[in-house]
Amino acid sequence: MKIVVIGGTGLIGSKLVNKLRPDGHEAVAAAPNTGVNAITGEGLAAVLKGASVVVDVSNSPDWEDSAVLKFFETSTRNLLTYEAAAGVGHHVALSVVGTERLLESGYFRAKIAQENLLKGSSTPHSIVRATQFYEFFNGIADFSTQGNQVRLPHVLFQPMAADDVASAVARVAVGPPISGIVEIGGPEKFRLDEFIRRGLAARNDPREVIADPHARYYGIEVKERTLIPGDDAKLGTIRFDDWLAQTASQVPVSHAQPTTVAAATQEKGTYEKAS
Ligand SMILES: NC(=O)c1ccc[n+]([C@@H]2O[C@H](COP(=O)([O-])OP(=O)(O)OC[C@H]3O[C@@H](n4cnc5c(N)ncnc54)[C@H](OP(=O)(O)O)[C@@H]3O)[C@@H](O)[C@H]2O)c1
Repeated sequence: MKIVVIGGTGLIGSKLVNKLRPDGHEAVAAAPNTGVNAITGEGLAAVLKGASVVVDVSNSPDWEDSAVLKFFETSTRNLLTYEAAAGVGHHVALSVVGTERLLESGYFRAKIAQENLLKGSSTPHSIVRATQFYEFFNGIADFSTQGNQVRLPHVLFQPMAADDVASAVARVAVGPPISGIVEIGGPEKFRLDEFIRRGLAARNDPREVIADPHARYYGIEVKERTLIPGDDAKLGTIRFDDWLAQTASQVPVSHAQPTTVAAATQEKGTYEKAS
């Protein structure tokens, strides 16, 4: 099958392409630097020619509220339009577990808008909602750091490795459209503060992690089960300690969410104001 991966050069997208190709699929990594832009429409008609499936694992370069909303609305509308013209039979999108419980954040309002465009379209689709990626534990810590302390709520957390996310998305992409949402999560449940404490300790990071019931997660008030999937979620297999050991020599990813300095500053401001 020809499977076009929008955002195919990103963290999940590049892993996904590498998982699909050995199974004989023609997986095409589509992103601005490969000449495909889901916002302007550049390259979309050409890349979708002959495609059976489109997987959208793109992400907005700017996380400011209106910018991120515009990104997911414009790209999803464009993709659906070009897919209909090309006769693509399945659109898969990667979203986030608990999105409807996180609408205090502009990012999640944008993800809900993306999901709603798919639900309202006639294109057969599947929405995969994943929990947070292990790769961003350092970013979560950085966001909640003041001085040498990291304050986080003691809520349940069930993160997963990006490799497990890509495997799950690959399985959905080669299957029939589910016309709904499937949730995926990690193999272990943690407390958010405990997860970050464990990650920082493994990297010899001296910051002290404090469980604080008033602390927020990326500026968002979260409850006991806000961030975890339901009982039907499909679980990955890579455990956090194994992932920490495997990736010990890699440079940590610092910012899970804001990907520009401006957005990071803006988000940090939100956090400080809110807490
Ligand atoms: N962070 C989490 O814990 C988490 C949890 C669950 C779900 N998710 C979801 O997972 C998805 C993928 O995240 P990720 O971390 O893999 O993203 P990422 O590494 O930031 O990659 C984003 C990709 O999108 C591409 N892109 C940006 N603008 C584009 C455009 N106009 N047209 C086409 N492609 C464009 C980028 O290409 P360039 O590099 O060329 O700009 C890159 O390939 C996101 O939708 C996110 O909401 C994240």
